[in-house]
Amino acid sequence: MKALILAGGKGVRLKPLTNTMAKSLLPVANKPILFYVLEQIKEAGISDIGIIISPETGHYIREFVGNGSKWDVDITYISQVNPGGLAHAVKTAETFLGDSPFLMFLGDNLIHGGIKAFVDEFQSNLPNALILLKKVADARSFGVAELDADGKVTKLVEKPKVPKSDLAMVGVYLFKPDIHLAISKIKPSARGELEITDAIQQLIDDGKTVHSHILEGWWLDTGKKDDLLEANRVVLDDFLKRDIRGKIDTASKISGRVYIGENCVIENCIIRGPVSIAENCQISNSCILPFTSIGEGTIIKKSSIGHSVIIGKCRITNIEQLSDSIIGLESEIIKEDNGFKNLSLFVGDNCKVVM
Ligand code: G1P
Repeated sequence: MKALILAGGKGVRLKPLTNTMAKSLLPVANKPILFYVLEQIKEAGISDIGIIISPETGHYIREFVGNGSKWDVDITYISQVNPGGLAHAVKTAETFLGDSPFLMFLGDNLIHGGIKAFVDEFQSNLPNALILLKKVADARSFGVAELDADGKVTKLVEKPKVPKSDLAMVGVYLFKPDIHLAISKIKPSARGELEITDAIQQLIDDGKTVHSHILEGWWLDTGKKDDLLEANRVVLDDFLKRDIRGKIDTASKISGRVYIGENCVIENCIIRGPVSIAENCQISNSCILPFTSIGEGTIIKKSSIGHSVIIGKCRITNIEQLSDSIIGLESEIIKEDNGFKNLSLFVGDNCKVVM
């Protein structure tokens, strides 16, 4: 059994962060999303992993993941020059996949509880495909599955304008190698992509077995700003454990599940968990409120921050209330104490500033 992680794409919905970083390397609770994916694949017993990368951001992925030894897995990088859809990505990986059954995992998806149970279920029943589904409030931006009374998948439609069910297709799929033949039979969709949804529909049309499993736990698709904040909130809430390694002065009050990394210096602060502060941060005279992740090497002075992701090496000074924000690497947010109300901004492409 092999695994294929899709970490190409341009991350358009997460610009400007994705101008200088691959979408799947954005941190959730101070850990790249892709690392959770790798951990879950390894936990499911799969060690032969292909990662689809794009020419624009592939080098970042190679740098972060390397040869996979950190997870005790073997990584093969596969470059997809023109992103042509999920089924096109499978086509691009055909040489790597050979005639092996495989797990396909979208590199910006996170699911609660891992995937081991689904991999085990697939290996014992060996259907042609096993897909995961999740009930959502608005299914229009997903692949949507229709099931019959016995729970059998009857129809799959990619991003329908009027969804016939509330079951969205999660970005985790298991396939026997005959998916390649199905892919060779489909045509590009209205958005010009070879859709994996259409290829699985092709399997159904060809009389193959397609099993489904409805997820009970959370599923996070981190492709957009609010989803990234939500992923950070959910993961901090579920997984974070209290662990304080840095130097905390006696004036500081730290409550709840708070992680503070090595070499941090915290002076005269209130920190209320769940909060994760990575190594080498200096925080003084500040208040860090729940659901905040602060990336490595950040300096915060006289500020209050809650429900936010500070990616790393940032400087934040004199900000009374910062919330619901994502701050990119090496950014500075400073309010000067000069009595003037003017704003002085140096903001990159595709940014959004809400005052
Ligand atoms: C893709 C799939 C879609 C699936 C979604 C899950 O959508 O095409 O069927 O529901 O991933 O994240 P995309 O991210 O390309 O919009």
